[in-house]
Amino acid sequence: MVLTVKDMTFKAGQELSISGKVKSGCEKFSINIGHDADNIALHFNPRFCYNGDTNIIVCNSNQGGWGEEVREHGFPFQHDEAFKVTINFNNEQFYIKLPNGTMMSFPNRHGDDAFNHFDVRGDVKVEGIKMK
Ligand code: GAL
Repeated sequence: MVLTVKDMTFKAGQELSISGKVKSGCEKFSINIGHDADNIALHFNPRFCYNGDTNIIVCNSNQGGWGEEVREHGFPFQHDEAFKVTINFNNEQFYIKLPNGTMMSFPNRHGDDAFNHFDVRGDVKVEGIKMK
């Protein structure tokens, strides 16, 4: 599944919430925020079982190639379960609220204060997207 939102402007200080359900057998999914599909400031990638990784969240950015990964070992996602992730950012950091209420952060390596591209990929069903 790929869900792409193109004409959105997500600005620093705003909050983007994505809710959905993880399908059974999902190996990984990702939420991507950036300027286009190849220029991603935040790649938020929960991995159930992928590329030797089990139950870990991998974050990265991509500007003509992947940067350095940030790995979060708390993994509050489960197959067949609903999830909600809430993201906000400033020009230094992204802050991601995980489904269990804990927060993780990832550097805003682009340093930008607005992004127009947003997509969700993988075996999840997106049920709601809210920006405020
Ligand atoms: C790669 C993977 C990409 C992306 C990247 C993040 O191994 O193929 O989809 O998740 O890691 O660093």
